[in-house]
Amino acid sequence: MLIVDFDPNQEKAIEQAASLLVEVFSEHWPDAWPTMAAALKTVRDSYGSNGIGRAAIDDVGNVIGWIGGLSEYNGKVWELHPLVVRSDYQRKGIGRALVSDLEGQVRQGGGITLRVGTDDEDNMTSLGGMDLYPNVLEHLSNIKNLKAHPYEFYQKMGLPS
Ligand SMILES: CC(C)(COP(=O)(O)OP(=O)(O)OC[C@H]1O[C@@H](n2cnc3c(N)ncnc32)[C@H](O)[C@@H]1OP(=O)(O)O)[C@@H](O)C(=O)NCCC(=O)NCCS
Repeated sequence: MLIVDFDPNQEKAIEQAASLLVEVFSEHWPDAWPTMAAALKTVRDSYGSNGIGRAAIDDVGNVIGWIGGLSEYNGKVWELHPLVVRSDYQRKGIGRALVSDLEGQVRQGGGITLRVGTDDEDNMTSLGGMDLYPNVLEHLSNIKNLKAHPYEFYQKMGLPS
C-alpha cells in the first residue's frame, strides 16, 4: 500500500475515491454523500488550494482509502475531513496510516492542531438521540460504543473529537 497525493488528471482514482464515500457512508450516514456528484466535489475540494487530499492505493493502483484535510486559522489548525477505508480493507491499519500521513503533511506545512468531528445519526453510541444539555461534558465522559462508532478509532489516534 502507498499513500500519495491525488493527481487531478487521474480521473479513475478520483472516481474510486468518490465511490468510497457514497458506498461506505451509506449504512450509518446516508445523508453524508447521497450522490456521486456530492462525493466528487468533496474529493476535488480536498486537493484544492485550501486542502490536502491523500489516497491509499493498493499494488495495482486502486484507491482503497483516502483522507482529506481542510485548512483553518491560516494553516495553524486543520480539520480532518473526510476519512474512509474500503469495507474489505478495514481493521488492517490503513486508517491509522492515513491519519499519521495527514499529521505529517500538516506538520510540514506549519500546522499545530488537527481536529475532527464525527456524528452519531443512528444510535451507534449511547449518546445517539439524547439531549446532551446541560451536562454535555458529563454525558461525553460516559459515552459507550454500541455499534463500532468511529469515535473510538479517533481516540486511539489521539485526536480531539
Ligand atoms: C473508521 C475507519 C476510517 C478506520 O479505519 P481502519 O483502517 O479500519 O482502522 P485501523 O485498522 O487503522 O484501526 C486502528 C485502531 O482503531 C480501531 N478501530 C478501527 N475502527 C474502529 C471502530 N469503528 N470502532 C472502534 N475501534 C476501531 C482498530 O481496532 C485499531 O485498534 P488497535 O490499534 O488497538 O488494534 C474505517 O473503519 C472507515 O472507513 N469506516 C467507515 C467510515 C467512517 O466511519 N469514517 C469516519 C467518519 S467521521
